Amino acid sequence: MEPCISKYGLMSTVGNIQEHSLFKEDTYAFGVILLELLTGRTVLNEGLDLASWVLAVVSEEWTVEVFDKSLIREGASEERMVNVLQVAIKCVNKSFEARPNMRHVALSIRAIIEDDEKSMDASELSVTRSFIDL
Ligand SMILES: *[C@@H]1O[C@H](CO)[C@@H](O)[C@H](O)[C@H]1NC(C)=O
Repeated sequence: MEPCISKYGLMSTVGNIQEHSLFKEDTYAFGVILLELLTGRTVLNEGLDLASWVLAVVSEEWTVEVFDKSLIREGASEERMVNVLQVAIKCVNKSFEARPNMRHVALSIRAIIEDDEKSMDASELSVTRSFIDL
């Protein structure tokens, strides 16, 4: 019961995969999954080069446009989504040397979650404080 996802979203990059870059292909695949979660678009159904599309939109400074609107409607923090997007963009860098390793990716995501938990504590505190002020 421990799924391992690999070689996902690689249609546009297959070619000369070399042995030493295999782990970085996993990083790319993980980045594509993150991009799918953030955008609500899938590479499989839409035959989309999702990484190129996201990079094109972000480079035009329309970052918010890439996000799945339903995530925003459900109250997802835009700041947190931008932070995860930045991790995903590093994962899908065309140059595999520039991609972080998965350990680094996991640490980055954990840091985003921890920041988020801290800010939730802070907002709960401020709710408590406003009750006390009443
Ligand atoms: C890929 O990584 C290189 C080196 O870190 C960086 O200069 C470049 O901007 C990255 N490309 C994208 C599209 O983020």
